[in-house]
Amino acid sequence: MREKFAASQIKLHWLTFFLVALAYAAIELRGFAQRGSWQGYTLIVTHFTAGTMVLVLMLSRLLLRTRHRSPAILPAAPRWQTGLAHLTHTLIYALFISLPLMGIASRYLWGRDWWLFGFSMPVANTPDADLAKAFTGWHKTLAPLGYWLTGLHAVAALFHHYFLKDNTLLRMMPGRQRGQ
Ligand code: HEM
Ligand code: HEM
Repeated sequence: MREKFAASQIKLHWLTFFLVALAYAAIELRGFAQRGSWQGYTLIVTHFTAGTMVLVLMLSRLLLRTRHRSPAILPAAPRWQTGLAHLTHTLIYALFISLPLMGIASRYLWGRDWWLFGFSMPVANTPDADLAKAFTGWHKTLAPLGYWLTGLHAVAALFHHYFLKDNTLLRMMPGRQRGQ
């Protein structure tokens, strides 16, 4: 049995962390930019782009999960902790797949120009402003949940490392597997 997640899973985990932070930072900082300024444009394109990359990464990670078994936590954690961890991971996957999908759907249906990596993206031939607004509304309502879920997740990982002193965090840290 491996003692760490696969190297590909570890790389994608930390890349997701970086891009989630970038998506949140860009949209929060946008409030400081003047409407129509190049700074505002850069921040919103950064938000769209980082968010879409999060969708790609989360789907890739789900695929990787079907290929690699998760390494055991040693010493073994109590069942309630394992259950809570599974629940949190499931909610994280559900949120960070549905949020970008809602964002993309809203931009497509809105019918105005929007960009990824600075390139113009397709829009609906017959825009539906009401549905676009509904998607943006759900997106904005659910987005703050991400702060709580990733916060709980990160605190739990650090608690395992510093207080319970098990290998939970080390399994997700870069570095060679023992015996390689
Ligand atoms: C990891 C993925 C994403 C996260 C965590 C996220 C998070 C957020 C947050 C926190 C807000 C601000 C909510 C508020 O003002 O109350 C927001 C707004 C928004 N996001 Fe996202 N988002 C993500 C992906 C996307 C994607 C992929 C798109 C579209 C391509 C998108 C489009 C929008 C739009 C149109 C708004 C409203 C902006 C405005 O009010 O002017 N988001 N998002
Ligand atoms: C400081 C921030 C973070 C730390 C310290 C951290 C740490 C960890 C650790 C130690 C694991 C393995 C836990 C286990 O197997 O029970 C893990 C798994 C996981 N992490 Fe994080 N993480 C952080 C941020 C994030 C972010 C921002 C996301 C996604 C938005 C995320 C998504 C996941 C998911 C879905 C898993 C389950 C394993 C998998 O399917 O790949 N993490 N994380």
